[in-house]
Formats: sequence, structure tokens, C-alpha cells
Amino acid sequence: MNLNHLPFNKPCLAGRELEYVAQSIKSGWISGDGAFTKKCQSLLAQRLAAPGVLLTTSCTHALEMAAILLNIKPGDEIITPSFTFVSTVNAFVLRGAKPVFCDIRPDTLNMDEARIGTLISPRTRAIVPVHYAGVGCEMDVILNHSKQHGIPVVEDNAHGLFARYRGRLLGTFGQLSTQSFHETKNISCGEGGALIINDHALIERAEILREKGTNRSRFFRGQIDKYTWVDVGSSYVPSDMLAAFLLAQLEAADQIQTRRRTVWEYYYQHLQDWAASCKVRLPVVPPHCDQAYHMFYMLLPSLEKRQAFIVHLKARSISSVFHYVPLHLSPMGLQTGETSNLCPVTEDVSNRLVRLPFYNDLTEAELERIVMAVKDFAL
Ligand SMILES: Cc1ncc(COP(=O)(O)O)c(C=O)c1O
Repeated sequence: MNLNHLPFNKPCLAGRELEYVAQSIKSGWISGDGAFTKKCQSLLAQRLAAPGVLLTTSCTHALEMAAILLNIKPGDEIITPSFTFVSTVNAFVLRGAKPVFCDIRPDTLNMDEARIGTLISPRTRAIVPVHYAGVGCEMDVILNHSKQHGIPVVEDNAHGLFARYRGRLLGTFGQLSTQSFHETKNISCGEGGALIINDHALIERAEILREKGTNRSRFFRGQIDKYTWVDVGSSYVPSDMLAAFLLAQLEAADQIQTRRRTVWEYYYQHLQDWAASCKVRLPVVPPHCDQAYHMFYMLLPSLEKRQAFIVHLKARSISSVFHYVPLHLSPMGLQTGETSNLCPVTEDVSNRLVRLPFYNDLTEAELERIVMAVKDFAL
């Protein structure tokens, strides 16, 4: 093992994870919906002022639940960015929907809200914005379209827990929103997620879908005397051991966010002048957005430079990564999506974007080493 190596991501403990996981094991309840799950859900519900929060096994599964809850069926269309993780779209394609890909804004890399109007059709059943890097999409415009056409919004908020758009927390705008607690996210339990239900009318069915299509949650609460199969569904309930780990992180959310803000600001301050002098673009955060400090990315001048940059850092034992390969150009995107829309900004950004190491425990010395290696790259 190279002790000098700086990974792109590292799971970082907030402090009480082992204690809580041990408590969970000792309690004798390690399946789902035990005391720790309930604590995580009420903490999230309180922080987000959300009527319903259900922990799930992943953000992918929360998105799948959202698609089922909205009764998405073959022939329906959803409007979604192409510049996103595959799960944003896959969840809806699984139900037979056709993704209509929306290009992104060149500044925030969020869905370009000015294009949504031209993509809406009588078959549109959901708008699915992704708050890229935890910087809010232009929700005023998106919600206007939603209201005007009666189309629900599902926010993929995998990156944006505790970030705000015009003062309002991300994840509280759509009828439904989804969170990720994957290892790479600010708050994590390895693999996990949550469905945030902002529409009261969807809460009871969401519980049923999550419990294999049964009304077991009502049975556990003593509201019925036996439970049975009442709807479609699957197994989206995480183990309470994972919820125990997650609770330790959620309770430390403010410290984690402060720490990540320090990392993000270190990069920004120390790379700002260098970037301006060599046509590298740093992240743009509009003044009306309070970001989540989820990642630090840069746009290099070309694909060739980006690839050479990753090799350059690797030679100095520093990992950096790129993403997303545009979904509209992927084999599944071409097969299932609307192919007449062009997404030139997505294609350009996908070629030039690189993400620097980002985790809570990055020390100032490590940050300094990364910044020096970055500036050492011949552009
Ligand atoms: C935008 C976005 N949506 C959804 C997901 C899926 O999250 P999970 O791994 O929790 O299923 C990710 C994962 O990185 C993501 O970046």
C-alpha cells in the first residue's frame, strides 16, 4: 500500500458510528424499521420540514419508488438531464418511460430550465431535475412549468442534502425527492438513500411499495391486526445497522458540512488565479444558491488536456476522476430516449470535467499537496 496515495474519496467517520452499530446489534433488531431507522427519518423530516421521509437501500431505489408512485407507464415521457448518474433515468425507464434529455446550463451544469418548455409534450409525466454538485437548479422556472402543465417534479437530490435555493432547502420543492447516502456522499452509511415525500397523498402508498407491496408498516404501528399484499412493491428497507451508522453521521451533519466547506474553499481560493490564467473553469455557484459542498470540479480546456491531467495527478499518487458519460449517447439512452434533442453543452462538459479528491478528513497539508500538483500541470 502506498501511504502517500491520496484517494479520490475516503469514507470518514463522524465519531459515534461503531457505538451505534454495536447498540443496534445488541438490541436484537437488525432488520429494517427499528429504532435507528425511525430516528434517522424523524431527524431528516425535522431538518427538511418534510411530511414524509422513508430510508431506502439507495437513492436508486428511492428513484424507483418515485417512478412507481407517479404511476409511470410505457409511453410516458420524463424530462431529465443527460448529464447525470444512470439511476436518475433508469428508474423511469424500468417502468417503460421514454427519457427526453434536456441539455445543461454552461455555468452550474444543471438542467437548462430555458429548454424545458420546448420538451414538454402531452405525454410528459415528470420533470426530474438533478441538483448537480449540490447547487440548486432554477426551481422557480421548473415549478412554474410543473404548475402550468400539472406535471409532478421529482428532485434527484443525491448531491444536495442541506443546500438551499433562494433560502429554501433542496429536496423540498418536488412532490418527491431522493437522497443518497452512498460512500461518496457528504453523509453516508456505505450504501443507502431516502425518499422525501412532500405530497401527503403519496405517503401511505410509499410505505406499502417499500414493504414489498404489503401494509406491514400499518400493522407494525398497530393500525391493523394483520398485514397482507395490497399493491406492487419491492424490498427497499435498509437494515437498522446501516441506519445506526447513518444516524451518527446525520447527528454530525453540521460539523461535516463545515469541514467540507473548508475543503471546497481551500481549493477555490488557491486555484482561482491559476485557473483564470490558463482557461480552466472552476465551479460556479449563483448568489441565490447555498451549495452542499459535495464536490470540487474543474473544466479543462479540452478532452486531451483532461486525460493528461488525470495521468499527471496519478503520477503524483493523487486520484482524480471524471463523469458523466452523456446518457443520450449511451447504448441504453439511444435505445430508449428521445434522440432528436441535441445536448451540446453536456457533450462538451463531459469531455472536459475532472473532480479533485474530496472527503471530510482531507488535511491542509494534503490539500496543499494537491493544489501544488494541479498548478504543476502544463496547460
Ligand atoms: C445524481 C445521482 N443520482 C443518483 C445516484 C444514485 O445513488 P445511489 O448510489 O445511492 O443509488 C447518484 C450516485 O452517485 C447520483 O450521483
